[in-house]
Amino acid sequence: MSPTLDEVRALESQHVLGTYKRQPVLFVRGDGVRLFDADGKAYLDLLSGIGVASRGHNDPELTRAIIDQASTLMHVSNLYYHPLQGEAAQRLSALSGLSRTFFCNSGTEAVEACLKFARRYWFTKQDTGRTRYVSVKGGFSGRTMGALSVTSDPHYREPFEPLIPGVTFVSASDPAELLAAVTDKTAAIIAEPIQGEGGIRPMSQAFADAINEACRRTGTLYIADEVQTGLGRTGFPFYFQALGLQPDLISVGKALGGGVPIGAALVSERVAETIFPGDHGTTYGGNLLACRAAIVVLDQLTSGNLLDQVRTTGEHFEQRLQALAAKHPVVTELRGVGLMRGLEVKVDAALVVDEARNRGLLVNRTNEKVVRMLPPLTISIADLDAAMDILDAALGAVDQGAQA
Ligand SMILES: Cc1ncc(COP(=O)(O)O)c(C=O)c1O
Repeated sequence: MSPTLDEVRALESQHVLGTYKRQPVLFVRGDGVRLFDADGKAYLDLLSGIGVASRGHNDPELTRAIIDQASTLMHVSNLYYHPLQGEAAQRLSALSGLSRTFFCNSGTEAVEACLKFARRYWFTKQDTGRTRYVSVKGGFSGRTMGALSVTSDPHYREPFEPLIPGVTFVSASDPAELLAAVTDKTAAIIAEPIQGEGGIRPMSQAFADAINEACRRTGTLYIADEVQTGLGRTGFPFYFQALGLQPDLISVGKALGGGVPIGAALVSERVAETIFPGDHGTTYGGNLLACRAAIVVLDQLTSGNLLDQVRTTGEHFEQRLQALAAKHPVVTELRGVGLMRGLEVKVDAALVVDEARNRGLLVNRTNEKVVRMLPPLTISIADLDAAMDILDAALGAVDQGAQA
């Protein structure tokens, strides 16, 4: 017998550090786009564990590969060779155009590695004063001291200051501000092609052009933080490609292991040439289990027509959301690309999240007033329609509450 929600809560409240505000639901099983709670109730999961389970839950191919790998060899450390790191890296290189990969264990670590590699590049080039970063207001790159230093929101930062100095934040709506901020002291610009935690805000073409121009003018490196946007979420392998950006470094995480923790910093050849043994490392990074999962995920992304499917499903998703935005006065804006969508509402988005969950649909609140949706890339039109019908009812309930 699995424990009840109340039992799990009681145990966690005594022993798990209280860094998360969990919703009152206990999941015990998953199958494709559905999660099941301890009472056997099914939920349509339009969040995929925050963009991680991009083939849905319990994908048979991924599960088989993980079981096979776990019963063969999981981990040997980076002191030795194993056959899978090179294979996973080769696939990432083919998708991104950057030749080298450093493997780590999360998106934050991927960002951290990119920030370090950018500094190492200039250090090797003996431009040792070139240590500054330019980042974007409203962006999110993680919570370690380095990643937090390039994340602007004071709510995340303030309790942990002082952070790394020399970071300038510019407005994503002001390309001229970016051009003025990037100088010959800037090691790197870091920006998400679509801000995820910041409320699903796609970068404008003008801002992307300004990044390219600033990099061309000053030689500054661009770090594309693709932790949330990468690996097919938008219908492109990476969203920098849609904007014509030319990163020297890319941070990857979330979907890469389909649920097995793995992150990656992708590095251009000219940066790779400036990095040497001992510059960076991590015990788990790129172990056999994580790499085997990543190889399955990457092969699933490139074989068949998954990216086309994401674009087609994404268009249908957009049409359904547009109809909801037109119908419900509480919705103020719809944003996003492919299967990465946000609905901005007039009220706290938690109200929509709760109404949806009570009706068997999982969506997420981000940036207070945004309902974020990151469904599995494989979601069928029928399941998406069923989810939109539930969201319609949830928004209707919130509309009524807002008027009362
Ligand atoms: C764009 C971006 N970068 C970095 C991170 C941090 O990744 P992780 O939570 O895996 O450490 C996130 C997480 O949401 C993210 O969205």
